[in-house]
Amino acid sequence: MPGYELIGAEEQAEVDDIFKNGGVLFRHSFDHLRQDRWKVRDFEREFAKSVGMSYALAVTSGTAALRVALAVLDLQPGDEVITQSFTFVATVEAIIESGAIPVCAEIDGTLNMDPKSLKSLITPKTRAVIAVHMLGTPARLFEIDDICREKKIALIEDAAWGCGGSLDGRPLGTWGRMGTYSFDFAKTMTTGEGGMIVFQNEADYKAAAAWHDHGHENNPSVPRWEDTRASSGFNFRMTEMQGAVGLAQLKKLSHVVAMQRKNRDAMWAAIQNLPGIIPREVPVGSHETADALVFSVSDNATARQCRDALLAQGLSTKILPEAVTWHFAGTWTHMSELVDSHGGDLTKAFGPSRTRLERAVSLPVVVKMDETVPARLRTALAKVLK
Ligand SMILES: Cc1ncc(COP(=O)(O)O)c(C=O)c1O
Repeated sequence: MPGYELIGAEEQAEVDDIFKNGGVLFRHSFDHLRQDRWKVRDFEREFAKSVGMSYALAVTSGTAALRVALAVLDLQPGDEVITQSFTFVATVEAIIESGAIPVCAEIDGTLNMDPKSLKSLITPKTRAVIAVHMLGTPARLFEIDDICREKKIALIEDAAWGCGGSLDGRPLGTWGRMGTYSFDFAKTMTTGEGGMIVFQNEADYKAAAAWHDHGHENNPSVPRWEDTRASSGFNFRMTEMQGAVGLAQLKKLSHVVAMQRKNRDAMWAAIQNLPGIIPREVPVGSHETADALVFSVSDNATARQCRDALLAQGLSTKILPEAVTWHFAGTWTHMSELVDSHGGDLTKAFGPSRTRLERAVSLPVVVKMDETVPARLRTALAKVLK
């Protein structure tokens, strides 16, 4: 969560560097004005290096990152893309926008995609899987990746919450054919709005770079107005100001994740022996971003009582149990494409996921944690969990 907690002099200096040196805010061209300042380009290079990949493309948001990644796959009407029932609406919106049919798998104890459910939903029309690392905990990537390889289906990781995390030493976002990130204001690192895609192969990178920029190939041998075109496309270009902020935030990412993990551990230590508290399952080898501390209790009534008790102590919850409507496919009756693909009535869909989410409580984790928080958490939750 806390990229925004640490915005300060470093971000300001990167932005000032643009304004003191030509003030070019566009990521391409204007070479005679920009005095060799290329903030988006530098941000892409540094981000790619930080996750050990060769190709990264900065875009305007995490939603745009998903849309551009799907554009690379050249989906056709009737193609299906499977994601999970617990995610943010953006994941499903990007599938719908790309003209494909959205299908949501059940979640398991990790609150991420259940590989068994994924397997059962694959049809000859399945073209891609989007696995989401919700709230910074890795999905079961070993199993999901195996399934996608066996069935020759593209794996995209929605690492909106996974930036800075890893599984088995491999950064989240780099397991799939493509990985997407969000830098919106609530994410571990932020550019206000913004996103990134990383790619396993150059051809996908080139297709995405062109599509996010009206099909421009950015051929270095001709001026931009004479540029060659790779495809039709759209405009999801990041601005130099976002790139500048991203460069400064990236340098803080490992500190942010380390602090979140430390604070999450202190919070958990204070409450872990309360009766009936069950920790979220975490795949072996996970390095979570610890964006939130998530646990389950016996039922929805108890989860809601936990929230009320926390509020009384001046503490809050995050998404679970109160704001699940934006993050649970079973409530997205406004998405006719999803309703149709799940039998016409979402209120009857995703029973196992619903049961898991109703019992879950998620606590926000911040970098600059007030040191009284763990004890206050304990006091609040001990009133409910007796
Ligand atoms: C799982 C997930 N995917 C995608 C997004 C979209 O990111 P953005 O807000 O940058 O468009 C979000 C945003 O919260 C998210 O949680």
